[in-house]
Amino acid sequence: MKKWYAVIGDPIAHSLSPFMHDLWMDEHGVDASYIPVHVKPARLKESFDALKTLGVGGFNITLPHKQAIVPFLDELDETAIIMDAVNTVTFDGQSYKGWNTDGDGFVRSLMTEQIALHEKVLIIGAGGAARGIAFALKRANFHDVSIANRTYQRAEELAAATGSEAITMQDAEKSLGDFRIIIQTTSVGLAEGEALPLSLDQIQPDSLVADIIYTPLETPFLKAAKEKGCRILNGVGMFVYQGAIAFEKWTGIRPDTEKMIHIITDKLGGNYVNR
Ligand code: ATR
Repeated sequence: MKKWYAVIGDPIAHSLSPFMHDLWMDEHGVDASYIPVHVKPARLKESFDALKTLGVGGFNITLPHKQAIVPFLDELDETAIIMDAVNTVTFDGQSYKGWNTDGDGFVRSLMTEQIALHEKVLIIGAGGAARGIAFALKRANFHDVSIANRTYQRAEELAAATGSEAITMQDAEKSLGDFRIIIQTTSVGLAEGEALPLSLDQIQPDSLVADIIYTPLETPFLKAAKEKGCRILNGVGMFVYQGAIAFEKWTGIRPDTEKMIHIITDKLGGNYVNR
């Protein structure tokens, strides 16, 4: 019988996941559909029960349900335990298991660039997104990772949990030239004209600067880094790879990610070649 998958969130209409998964299913000859489901927070439990009753094959979870879904799941993968948040649920016929593919999605995107594991990495921010990335970098064997955050204590806590170094924003600014890979995970500087989370004065032109955001495709932070001569990486790759990891868990098929990054970039009005 035809299988079906879903993404739940509030709001959900803007999600690009149905477009992406449907395309992959078509392309790889998977007889399945993927539908967006608008779920209000107060109805999360009953919506999950409905998905189960109707035979969902697996689903993604987006804001604001990533943490709220956790107590309802039968099992959690280590990635979900670390984050206390789930973006992907698989079903093996017996139990519904939660995973978090965001951090690994980011690292897979990063690995498409010309980088080496020994390079010095700076993560800016110590919130949920930074946590997923810091643990994923550790799993991928990056061994020189520093974390800078406005609230230094949060940087210290995340650094201690992941075997990284905590540094203050001021020290990160001063020593920015030492870092080859800089990852921006805060929501600061999202809007045009807003201040950047830290000054890029000391950055080296050959560094790789990544942002987890993909709308806009080029955040003010990435724009500033590009003007300094840095290579930049926006959040489209992270989005595509977090979905690709979920797709593979559901279907056993590794979907074509490179082509999808082009397609999503085009869809968002960008030009992949000139990114
Ligand atoms: P997410 O799950 O998207 O990472 P979060 O957990 O709320 O969201 O984390 C937001 C991150 O952005 C934090 O690192 C936060 O710094 P604090 O820990 O000091 O709050 C950072 N952030 C948010 N607003 C900021 C600002 N105006 N200046 C600097 N950092 C900011």
